Amino acid sequence: MPSTNQVILNAPLDMHLHLRDGEMLDNIVNGSAHTFSGAIIMPNLVPPVTTKEAVIAYKERIMHAIGDEKFTPYMTLFFKPSYDKAFLESVRDDITALKLYPAGITTNSEGGVSGFDVEELRPALSAMSELNLPLCVHGETNGFVMDREAEFVSIYEELAAAFPDLKIIMEHITTKESVAALDKFKNLYATITIHHLLITLDDVAGGMLQPHLFCKPIAKRPEDREALLKVALAAHPKVMFGSDSAPHPKHAKESCGCAAGVFTAPVALQLLTELFEKNDASLENLQAFVSGNAQHIYGVTPLSKTVTLEKKPFKIPSDYNGVVPMYANEEIAYSIQEVKNG
Ligand code: NCD
Ligand code: ZN
Repeated sequence: MPSTNQVILNAPLDMHLHLRDGEMLDNIVNGSAHTFSGAIIMPNLVPPVTTKEAVIAYKERIMHAIGDEKFTPYMTLFFKPSYDKAFLESVRDDITALKLYPAGITTNSEGGVSGFDVEELRPALSAMSELNLPLCVHGETNGFVMDREAEFVSIYEELAAAFPDLKIIMEHITTKESVAALDKFKNLYATITIHHLLITLDDVAGGMLQPHLFCKPIAKRPEDREALLKVALAAHPKVMFGSDSAPHPKHAKESCGCAAGVFTAPVALQLLTELFEKNDASLENLQAFVSGNAQHIYGVTPLSKTVTLEKKPFKIPSDYNGVVPMYANEEIAYSIQEVKNG
């Protein structure tokens, strides 16, 4: 992208977002709803979103918290192997996807899947496949922290082969192994965060420990980031932007036993624009990465929204309603100039 004073993005989508609930939802939701047309909303609440009633009620709380902003929450259900076709059919019109968490692998995932037995998962995954409901997966084993995602690739491949018509989204990929898997199976797709395009483990723990950059999966090696950058900047048609913006109160991050999650939603588009410009990637690719690819993959038509970014230094605030954003107090090159709905 040539250096420019203005960048216009149409209908940005965030295909992996944590909006939380209650006071936190009220505090952070407009950091997404103002600049994005819609987002896939993760179901890892306490308790997790596992029933039709819970999905509908959570969506209503989100819409209430949003107020006048124009934004579509694409709802998800917390995957359980016990879901049967009749249940999935009954909830089909209220959700866009299901999210599978390995048990205990990340924040509020205790009720997730233990062990990956294809036969045990077959009834639920076959039904999803027939109903054209995508499966979003947090792909980490409980192995050594740096190897968890690479170890999970064989599970992705087993699932992709066993359910060839099931769309499987490898969420927030961080490794070259996951990037390589994308082209091996037609039904594997991926989301990539802005933080994993910007940082490596060195930025998290190479100097003074940076709790606001600590997340699951942990940022990896430079060659992993290179592999992610390559497909994101080229807008590989099977990758899409998903922030995995995951707010935790400041005290839960700046403490002994730091919660995992990077809060990026309010600065994601500014950082992405700067990144694409720095790497000389085209505006067309940025548009595809933040919206077009997701529209094709999920078959969604977002609300129209035009976001104008201006090349004007922007100092990221130290806090958004009690949550510390990525790169707090640092200056970045782009700011949001205007958002037009409709
Ligand atoms: C997420 C959260 O806080 O909900 N944390 C994170 O580090 N990404 C959960 C998740 O997506 O793993
Ligand atoms: Zn997440």
